[in-house]
Order: sequence, then C-alpha cells, then structure tokens
Amino acid sequence: MHKKTASYDATAALCMVVFAMSCTTRYFYVANASDPAPLQDFCVAVDHPSPHTGIPTFINGKFCKNPKEVVINDFLYKGFNIPGDTNNTQRAKVTALDINRFPALNTLGVSMARVDFAPFGLNTPHSHPRASEVTAVIEGSLYAGFITTDNRLFDTVLNKGDVMVFPQGLIHFQLNLGKKTALAIAAFGSQDPGRVDVAESVFGSRPNILDEVLTKAYQVDDKIVEKLRAQFSSHNVSVDTGRSILKLFAQASSDDCGY
Ligand SMILES: *[C@@H]1O[C@H](CO)[C@@H](O)[C@H](O)[C@H]1NC(C)=O
Repeated sequence: MHKKTASYDATAALCMVVFAMSCTTRYFYVANASDPAPLQDFCVAVDHPSPHTGIPTFINGKFCKNPKEVVINDFLYKGFNIPGDTNNTQRAKVTALDINRFPALNTLGVSMARVDFAPFGLNTPHSHPRASEVTAVIEGSLYAGFITTDNRLFDTVLNKGDVMVFPQGLIHFQLNLGKKTALAIAAFGSQDPGRVDVAESVFGSRPNILDEVLTKAYQVDDKIVEKLRAQFSSHNVSVDTGRSILKLFAQASSDDCGY
C-alpha cells in the first residue's frame, strides 16, 4: 500500500512538472507574440516593397543572407585591437562593433565597442536607447557615472579591471583621469544600441531646434543658445572638467594619475 502511494506520488509530481513546463512554454509564447523590440530608430510600414524606385525596403533589422551561402568569415570581425583615432576635441573615440559594422550580429541582440581615450579624453554624456551596457576598463582610470530618471547621479572612479553597468537609456559618461591613454571595452544587449549625445542632439540637430524652445528650456537668451550651437555645428565638443577634477585624481591609480 505504501509503495503504491509512493509510485502514485511520483507520477503526480511528474505530471505537475510537465504541466508547469507547458505553462512556462505558453508564457514564452505569449511574450513572443507581442511587438518585437525595435532594432533601429523606426521602421515605417509600406504596403509593398517598390520594385520600380530601385530603393530597397528595410525590415526591423536587416535582411538575412541565405544560410547555405554563409561561411565562417561571416561570423568573424578582425581589427578590434586597432585603437580609434582620438585626435578630436573630446580626445576620445568610440569604435562601435554593432550591426552596421558586423553583419553577423543581425537578430542576435548583442554588440560591442571599444572606447579609446587620449590623456584626459572624455566620452561625452550620452545614452543608448536600445541597450544596457557593461563596460570593462582594460587600461587606465576613468571617472564614470550615469544619471537616473529622477536625476540621481551614480558616479565613481574605475581603475583597470573594474567593470560597471550603465542601465538602458540612462545618460552616462566616462572621463580619462590619467596622463596616459585609457581603453574600455563595452558590451551591449542590442545589435544596434544607438547613441544619443545629449548636447549634440539638443544643440547640433539638423535643422536646428527653434530658439524659442531652447531659450525657454534652458532659461538663457538666444545669444547663449547660438554660442552653444556653434560648438556642435562643426562637431566640436568642449571639455570642461571643472575644479573638482583634482579631488578625483586621488582616487585614480597612482601610475595613471595626471598630477
Ligand atoms: C590632429 O588633428 C589636427 C587637426 O585636424 C591636425 O592638424 C594634426 O596634425 C593632427 N595630429 C595628429 C598627431 O594626427
């Protein structure tokens, strides 16, 4: 009698597991039935691809190569070791290894970037609308931070080997605290995380955002708005590291420290 009950219990337990699994599968199915996450800024629908204009139509993402024609080289990218050119106003260069540079990433939801910093170089405040970011400092020391939707700043000094998360869509930045070059490697949960540079979006849009919007938004006169625009029309970004930078040097690795 006892044995029979045990056997019955085991069968019942198995049934429950199978039932639970089928429920889980069903939940996944429901999730998949919702709108897919955007893989680019927008994808305006058309009724038919136009065969006449010669202009290709796009999908949410990119077209897929015929799997029979795919070869190993399609999955490889070479040259990620090559530093970006930091000879610019910000003294930093982001080399994004996203879908636009690495077609193998299509539909896979991941991408990378390397960020090269000249001494005191700045990766300007920006956000990625489609991805969270995990960044590892490979060389040097960076002052890094992000700002939450309720304007709370989380900031710190990252030394070699430190890894920091930047949540999806939140504005963040990294500043090289050293007199030597620095290198960070970033990973993203999107094939095309996108990048919105805060100042450049607002003051460097084409065409310009109307003066009335910006003077009111920032509570300054239009001369100041013009001055700010002038910084971005030529894609110059001024770097104002401020007085408090001296305090940060104390937190940087001594051999990377500027002064
Ligand atoms: C950096 O850029 C400036 C302006 O474009 C140029 O004059 C200068 O030669 C460049 N320096 C190096 C080391 O490439």
